[in-house]
Amino acid sequence: MLSPTLTTIRMFLHVVAASVWVGGQIVLVGIVPAIRASYPEATRTVAKAYGRVAWPAFAVVVLTGLWNLGEVDVTNTSTAYQITLFVKIALAMVSGAAAAVHQVGRSKVALAVGGAVGFLAALAAMYCGYLLTTGR
Ligand code: HEM
Repeated sequence: MLSPTLTTIRMFLHVVAASVWVGGQIVLVGIVPAIRASYPEATRTVAKAYGRVAWPAFAVVVLTGLWNLGEVDVTNTSTAYQITLFVKIALAMVSGAAAAVHQVGRSKVALAVGGAVGFLAALAAMYCGYLLTTGR
């Protein structure tokens, strides 16, 4: 059995938190239309409950992301890696900000655009994360 290391624990926490943030939105996209059709009053309850799990997960992904930054010698990586990392962090921040607009927004536009941008930026951040593993 391979022994756990601080690096594997750091990446495990980062990817699990990222999976809750991204995967949770995928599940919501799948179940909310059905809930809205059958129990419209429950939609808000489900969204609030997701938020109670999603925002702590987002905090963990940002904190472990900063830890990652502390462990990766970014100055010693390729320009392509640095650009990918910058784009990834920007997408992660856009994802959080858009999700906040979606949560506190009252207009249909804030709900729709905030939700869509938050979801797509999170997906793209996840993909950029795996791009980073293809080489420094
Ligand atoms: C929605 C937000 C985020 C998602 C979905 C995400 C996802 C990922 C994924 C999938 C990886 C690759 C894991 C692997 O090697 O198997 C990764 C790596 C990494 N992430 Fe994130 N991440 C997010 C936010 C952040 C933030 C905010 C930062 C920095 C502040 C960050 C910094 C890093 C770094 C530096 C690595 C490379 C670590 C290494 O190779 O040792 N991430 N991320």
